[in-house]
Amino acid sequence: MKIFTKTKNLIEYISTIKDKKIGFVPTMGALHNGHISLIKRSTDENDITIVSIFVNPTQFLEGEDFKKYPKKIEADKKICSYAGIDILFLPTAKDIYSDDEPHLLAPSIKGYIIEGYRRPGHFNGVLQVVLKLLNITKANNAYFGKKDAQQLYLVKKMVESLYIRTNIVECDIVREENGLALSSRNIYLTDIEKQKALCISKSLKKASALVINGERNVDSLKNIILHELKEVRIEYIEIVNRNFEKIEKIEINNSIILIAVYVGATRLIDNIWI
Ligand code: PAJ
Repeated sequence: MKIFTKTKNLIEYISTIKDKKIGFVPTMGALHNGHISLIKRSTDENDITIVSIFVNPTQFLEGEDFKKYPKKIEADKKICSYAGIDILFLPTAKDIYSDDEPHLLAPSIKGYIIEGYRRPGHFNGVLQVVLKLLNITKANNAYFGKKDAQQLYLVKKMVESLYIRTNIVECDIVREENGLALSSRNIYLTDIEKQKALCISKSLKKASALVINGERNVDSLKNIILHELKEVRIEYIEIVNRNFEKIEKIEINNSIILIAVYVGATRLIDNIWI
């Protein structure tokens, strides 16, 4: 496994790679089984896999956890090496960003609803860095988790709108056995908070079971989820179609139920695609 910290060196190296399929997994590190599932998919489907670890400052809002975002670089290196990746990219913010540079803006509607409404400007930073990383890596395939459903949607939209020649691969959410969706931020949770957080996935599962039994009404489903979410502070429960448009009735195989809650001081998001 080669490690690059300088963009210039990585670009040079990639320009020497010929006739190989490149898979790319962008991350912010503190790698867990969710990330590993993306990496595994990339190593299975490509000749070369590049993983980036970069805690991107521009996607954090004032007062968010940028400074204390979990860092486990030595463990992450081992995980990447065991997973058999070819290139680990560990850039610095100084290397990625210059002082006065052009900015890519998230779509003014879909970038500012749901997550984007609570974290205005967050998706500008996400798209800005993902665009740079896709240009740097020249990936044929880039792997994103459904865990961050709106991010995935907006990245796909960006790739389509800007005619970027990378295929965006959607990867399923990896959960603990008890249902809790894996997240680097789970590290912030105490044992008691982890127990409290279980109601999130349970509520989504219950909603999905009701849909299977014929429930289609979005308001009824939201109400049921609301009652399941105990001992957490609800930020939103939203149900949209896969195009991130509000719906009144569930469209099978075209709907997503999204939840954001605070468990203690930790903000968690989860969703289910139905
Ligand atoms: P990060 O939160 O590290 O996540 C990196 C990728 O792993 C994302 O595509 C995310 O959706 C996926 N992921 C996280 N938890 C997952 C889980 N439990 N199951 C499946 N996939 C999961 O998302 C980011 O970083 C950043 O915004 C980034 C895209 C790297 C841009 O800075």
